[in-house]
Amino acid sequence: VSDDLVIRRAEPADVPGMARLAGALVRMHHRVDPSRFLLVDEVEKGYGWWFGREIARPEAVAIVALRAGSVVGYAYGTLEERDWNLLLDEHGALHDVFVDETARGHGVGQRLVREAVAALEELGAPRVILSTMVSNETAQRLFRRCGFRPTMLEMTRDGETVASPKSG
Ligand SMILES: CC(C)(COP(=O)(O)OP(=O)(O)OC[C@H]1O[C@@H](n2cnc3c(N)ncnc32)[C@H](O)[C@@H]1OP(=O)(O)O)[C@@H](O)C(=O)NCCC(=O)NCCS
Repeated sequence: VSDDLVIRRAEPADVPGMARLAGALVRMHHRVDPSRFLLVDEVEKGYGWWFGREIARPEAVAIVALRAGSVVGYAYGTLEERDWNLLLDEHGALHDVFVDETARGHGVGQRLVREAVAALEELGAPRVILSTMVSNETAQRLFRRCGFRPTMLEMTRDGETVASPKSG
């Protein structure tokens, strides 16, 4: 499966494929916890607009995995300045990693994460930070293999008007 796989920096022609996968990433989160994770109308269109801008920005890193010319995975991160609220000095932020279901389990995710981290470090990031759903153990295993360690735990309290996710 990974024989004809190409991993490289994203180009403008990759944006629709990246946006399709970003839409799937958003829908996945929203399905698990709709109170915490938003789902906006025309989410793919929104990401198409966003990635189109981001891939041209020097502080942004977008890596794609292509099989037979189609985008089957991507990773996206940005170089960020000191953040007093997060108690976090200059860092790379890895925002998205997604591999199409048909391409999973062959090391594509690991290659994308490693490439994105290397590109952020090349931009000068002394550390790279990411967030992942507490329940997403597959992703956590991948990130640990790539050298990440658990550091923060986000907690959400739903207001009275918000239906909380079913537990269990
Ligand atoms: C998390 C995700 C990116 C992983 O992508 P992937 O391409 O399957 O990642 P890898 O192939 O590198 O690793 C996945 C598994 O395949 C195994 N694997 C990798 N190469 C392999 C090979 N050649 N042969 C057999 N197994 C292999 C890995 O050991 C790993 O096993 P584990 O889950 O038991 O730890 C993917 O599942 C995904 O897109 N999920 C939905 C989105 C998501 O959760 N994103 C991250 C949170 S933001």
